[in-house]
Amino acid sequence: MHASALLFAAALTSISLDPPAMKNPVGISIGAVRLRRQHAHSFQKILQDELKQRVRWRGVDKDDPEVLTLHLPAVAAASLDDEHPELTRFLRENKGEYLPGVRKKCPTLALKPPPSPPPSPPSKKAKKDDDGSSGGFRFVELFAGIGGFRLGLERPDVGGKCVLANEIDPHAASIYRENFADSDSCLAEGDVLDLSGDNLPKFDMLVGGFPCQPFSNRGEQKGLDDDRGQLYREMARILKEGQPKCFIFENVPGLVTMDGGSRTGRVKGERPRFTPGAVFERILKTMRSCGYNVDWQVLNSRKFLPQMRERVYIIGTRIDLGPGCEKFNWDSLILKDLKEEETATVRNIMEPKDSPAVIASELTPAQLAKVKSVHSKRGTILSEDGRIDPDCKAPTLISRYHTLSSFSTKFIFEEADGTPCRRPRYLTPRECTRLMGFPEDFIVPTHEDAKATNKYYHAIGNAVCPPLISVLGMELMNCIR
Ligand SMILES: C[S@@+](CC[C@H](N)C(=O)[O-])C[C@H]1O[C@@H](n2cnc3c(N)ncnc32)[C@H](O)[C@@H]1O
Repeated sequence: MHASALLFAAALTSISLDPPAMKNPVGISIGAVRLRRQHAHSFQKILQDELKQRVRWRGVDKDDPEVLTLHLPAVAAASLDDEHPELTRFLRENKGEYLPGVRKKCPTLALKPPPSPPPSPPSKKAKKDDDGSSGGFRFVELFAGIGGFRLGLERPDVGGKCVLANEIDPHAASIYRENFADSDSCLAEGDVLDLSGDNLPKFDMLVGGFPCQPFSNRGEQKGLDDDRGQLYREMARILKEGQPKCFIFENVPGLVTMDGGSRTGRVKGERPRFTPGAVFERILKTMRSCGYNVDWQVLNSRKFLPQMRERVYIIGTRIDLGPGCEKFNWDSLILKDLKEEETATVRNIMEPKDSPAVIASELTPAQLAKVKSVHSKRGTILSEDGRIDPDCKAPTLISRYHTLSSFSTKFIFEEADGTPCRRPRYLTPRECTRLMGFPEDFIVPTHEDAKATNKYYHAIGNAVCPPLISVLGMELMNCIR
């Protein structure tokens, strides 16, 4: 039986005024109600009426034939945390119980333990790696997507070891599993809201790019009003519960400027200066309240890769570790270019024109007509405004790249050898993977699997650039050693 169910089974007949489950101090409001089965539907209806939105349970535990544990969406849990009168009354009258802070069964428990090492006395190196003092460190990757942070931090010269990754999207999770051999013992597929702090392995660094749609210039910019915009609180919760030495979070620059912030104009050769708005200030304050010194910068991956990709990186070091992130040298990091040929232009990452993936990425006549109409409606010209110049950096790869209706999508009109394409084509999945700086052995779907290819375009457009994460990770660990 679910532990929370045991705890609260007795409470169903008399309402406990002082429920033992705790409100979560930093994370998103979370909780469940325990109700007799026959009241579940009426409770859902009253929730929908009161909250003026459709409510779906985040999970239902049926470990008692008569009584259900209904895991609430965050907005409903928040209302009950605030003792919403109608909802509270309904529960009281129907001998139900609200269980604040209760999470679903923790996905970390579902992880298979890693294969045990052969029984030999621990070597000096292994011991040192365990406490992170030799350059080795352990990290937890939230909102893992397809593992961009992991690729950057597990590079041998960086020395990271992923001990737990969490991702809710089954497609991203399956790409992750395909590419990381130990995923069974490391990837917890499921909602971060159900990741319990009690079962976290020991770790030194927390990393993650929390969902950016609520802050993206391309979205509706609902910011913190969007449920997904609140997920940064889950990063804060895991920080508070796990107290790692440091963290790296990533997001779109729109997060910095939202709600009253600003950026200076684009001047060639100069880095834009950002002034944070209220939303970003609130997020930084939350991170500080978890016991960390915090700093941030907007960096452009063009220094590292053939792609223009501005992202904000928030770093933090635990206060008791001393100056930590105040020592972080952003400028030296930006100058740490990769080899020139790797960072050069789109032409360097293009596949041969006769490769099956290139042929498959050509627009069909019908698709071409559709794309042209998207441009003509906006008064733009596809061959100019929709063209990727192979001798420049690519524009930012977005999750909607492989979408005909996306005006932001740009196409290749010329092959790597300079010959014109028959019809414009998308960048291939491999080309996108290279633009992000993922390694050549990263497995991408074949062009024959159209569904997997579509999902892959979405996932790679959401990812972080591992080469940039590598230098951030190295610099951050140096600051706290
Ligand atoms: C911006 S992407 C991060 C991509 C990742 N950094 C990478 O390199 O691939 C955000 C990810 O958060 C995941 N996500 C969104 N809501 C989530 C939730 N409630 N729990 C766990 N993961 C979630 C999305 O499916 C998406 O893959």
